[in-house]
Amino acid sequence: MEKMTSLNPVAMVIFGAGGDLTWRKLIPALYSLFRDQWLPERFAIIGMDMRQMSDNEFRQRLRGGVEQFSRHDRPGDELWQRFASSLTYRVADFASPECYAALAKHLDELDGMWKTKSVRLYYLATPPQMIEVIPRQLGMAGLARDCENARIVVEKPFGRDLSSARSLNKILTSVFDESQIYRIDNYLGKETVQNILAFRFANALFEPVWDRRYIDNIQITVAEQVGVEHRGLYYDQTGALRDMIQNHLMQILCLVAMEPPVSFDADEIRNKKTDVLHAVRNIEPEHVHESAARGQYGAGWIEGTRVPAYREEPGVNGDSAIETFASVRFFVDNWRWQDVPFYLRTGKRLPVRISEVSIQFRPVPHQSFPATAIRDFQPNRLMIRIQPDEGILLRFQAKRPGLQIHLSPVDMHFFYREAFRAKPPEAYETLLVDVMLGDGTLFKRADQIEAAWALMTPILEAWESSAPPDFPNYAAGSWVVEPAAILIARDGRKWLTPSISTAEEGGAAIHGRP
Ligand code: BG6
Repeated sequence: MEKMTSLNPVAMVIFGAGGDLTWRKLIPALYSLFRDQWLPERFAIIGMDMRQMSDNEFRQRLRGGVEQFSRHDRPGDELWQRFASSLTYRVADFASPECYAALAKHLDELDGMWKTKSVRLYYLATPPQMIEVIPRQLGMAGLARDCENARIVVEKPFGRDLSSARSLNKILTSVFDESQIYRIDNYLGKETVQNILAFRFANALFEPVWDRRYIDNIQITVAEQVGVEHRGLYYDQTGALRDMIQNHLMQILCLVAMEPPVSFDADEIRNKKTDVLHAVRNIEPEHVHESAARGQYGAGWIEGTRVPAYREEPGVNGDSAIETFASVRFFVDNWRWQDVPFYLRTGKRLPVRISEVSIQFRPVPHQSFPATAIRDFQPNRLMIRIQPDEGILLRFQAKRPGLQIHLSPVDMHFFYREAFRAKPPEAYETLLVDVMLGDGTLFKRADQIEAAWALMTPILEAWESSAPPDFPNYAAGSWVVEPAAILIARDGRKWLTPSISTAEEGGAAIHGRP
């Protein structure tokens, strides 16, 4: 793709510009795009929030965020001044029509100065309840009318269950056309997640074995080492199922399970992903206990440091029943995947930060080697490492050097860092460029969100109606969450340890953790 400096001007309005997301993610990403000449030459960022701040205070605060979080070095004064000249701040009450009238005037002035119609991005970096307010006000002020140029970006969480997601979609689509709405899932902006499509559909090698005949099960793990950090209040109303599985893990499942798209068109890809969600078998209420398991961390040790239990975290209820770990087994009822379990798990305060998709192939149909040769036998396994140390590993059997036949599993690897030697862009950089270009491929459509929430409903209802008797049930820093181990053991399987190996180690996997 050509760089964007010559493209149409863009005016980006950030609602909630005084918040953490703007400071930590959005502005560092926009600064990186600016530095790498991915922003149009005529570009303005209008930050809006409730608190009083001058333009200069706003810029100063954002510079701190860029210095801390941008993937580039700290910006020099000259470069920063050039970038900061596009930043302005307006104090705003998001519920007041005057605020939108003033915004409309400001945007018209920009168009006048640029002598053309700009692309207008309205970015909701606000608390979730604002989704009910801002789009309506934008609509009433006539700021949503231009289907070509006006776009709205909505952050997660998108609802907290099916009915709230539906009503948010209703509000949004009563003002904006679906093609103007960009619902963000930052996982879809990650290089490795996008690479699942490249890996599957740009190579002829794997697709023929990518089905129930060759694959025994698929495991998607998103393990975090951090606890709830400063987000206790939010998290204690949310939990791991809503926070991670409904969105990030289900999106990864779709990319792994979808049928080949006919083209790279945004709707074609989103249709294929939605087909997967529609094929996922509903978990009946009476089967929730055998299809889903939850956990909550107690105190424990992470890398030699004692860390508190979830219930002791700031903002968290002292007898909270919220899960910090969730695992679910899904089946995708179609020709390709019938009876292949997809095991999803995610949790906070696990021993390491690692996200990986493991494709576990079936064993060979007939074992011709003597029993002594196959003591260490492992069926083939493909590991798509989403983060950190992004890459792909393929495990297969090799004959160990020696006079006797003895087979050992070995790994063939590809690491981004070795192969491309460039730091990949942050997810938000990719996603922001796509919104500016009007490409919705990596964003979620209303039907996808609703289908994913529908699948969560029985689990949410079952968990909300029966308090877990055993919380906390895993120690911070441990992989062992007993209900999840039982869930998979009932199927005669176990969780595959993510491949803890790095580019530095040359891909030699460290096995043997539970
Ligand atoms: C967010 C969740 O969507 O993703 C957080 O709300 C979680 O709880 C985060 O920590 C993980 O994102 P990443 O990019 O660090 O894997």
